[in-house]
Amino acid sequence: MNFDLKDKTALVTGGSRGIGLEIARSLLKEGAKVILCSRKKEGLEAAAVTLKKSEALTLIPAHIGKLDDVDALFAAIQEKFDHLDILINNVGMNLITPGIADLDPGLWQKIIDTNLSGTFRVCQKAALMMRTQGFGKIVSISSIAGRKATPGMGIYGIAKAGIEMMTKVLAAELALFNVQVNAVAPAMVRTDFSKPFWSNKELCDHVTATIPMGKIAQIEDVVKPVLFLASEGSSYITGQTLVVDGGATAI
Ligand SMILES: NC(=O)c1ccc[n+]([C@@H]2O[C@H](COP(=O)([O-])OP(=O)(O)OC[C@H]3O[C@@H](n4cnc5c(N)ncnc54)[C@H](OP(=O)(O)O)[C@@H]3O)[C@@H](O)[C@H]2O)c1
Repeated sequence: MNFDLKDKTALVTGGSRGIGLEIARSLLKEGAKVILCSRKKEGLEAAAVTLKKSEALTLIPAHIGKLDDVDALFAAIQEKFDHLDILINNVGMNLITPGIADLDPGLWQKIIDTNLSGTFRVCQKAALMMRTQGFGKIVSISSIAGRKATPGMGIYGIAKAGIEMMTKVLAAELALFNVQVNAVAPAMVRTDFSKPFWSNKELCDHVTATIPMGKIAQIEDVVKPVLFLASEGSSYITGQTLVVDGGATAI
């Protein structure tokens, strides 16, 4: 499948491994210049080795939960590129949590701060830049946990539901500025993040049985819809979340 993104400038948050790394690889393949951000410099450098596209790749370590880091990230983008065509909000973290009644408020804070407030911080900076320049595409990675109460993933799900509503709000606010804002909500995908689930055979079989397509997603199953939403193919789509779950939420 081809998505022509020649010379587009794209920021991928959480791009050093997993889904973000493969989104970056596909963006580069389609001709984009990619800015990769994640917390650890070593992780970014290792990603750059596997991407083998150093001239089209910019590495910027940043913790999206820290306002100063996000400010510095966008200052660097402004200075080097003077614009941003595409933002992929891919950072996400989860910790298995007890039910709300028994939850330590510190744990709530930690999960919401990275997943929801961090995404908000990045979106706010991108929205300002894209509104001024009069173009842009924002794609955020949600999760079906944001649509379906999932034991142990309640706070993460609340954060993802917030990202989906932020997608609608931003889409409405930026539509007349030629900025489109969408999201992709995957079910389980085979990455480090979800390894505790898919590497446990019993759990993996249980999850697979809930998916009409009868298999767990590979990373590329998620990357293709993200590229579509970042490309011209989605020219009249905004404020939407595309669910990528093999039919799991259809039944
Ligand atoms: N895998 C799944 O089953 C699944 C299912 C549904 C949705 N999702 C969503 O898909 C997205 C990607 O997931 P994944 O499985 O690819 O995750 P992953 O393998 O854990 O990768 C996460 C990436 O985010 C970076 N990161 C984490 N916290 C960060 C922070 N505060 N600031 C900047 N970078 C940060 C990590 O690098 P550093 O550690 O160096 O910062 C890494 O590059 C997430 O939003 C996740 O919620 C995943």
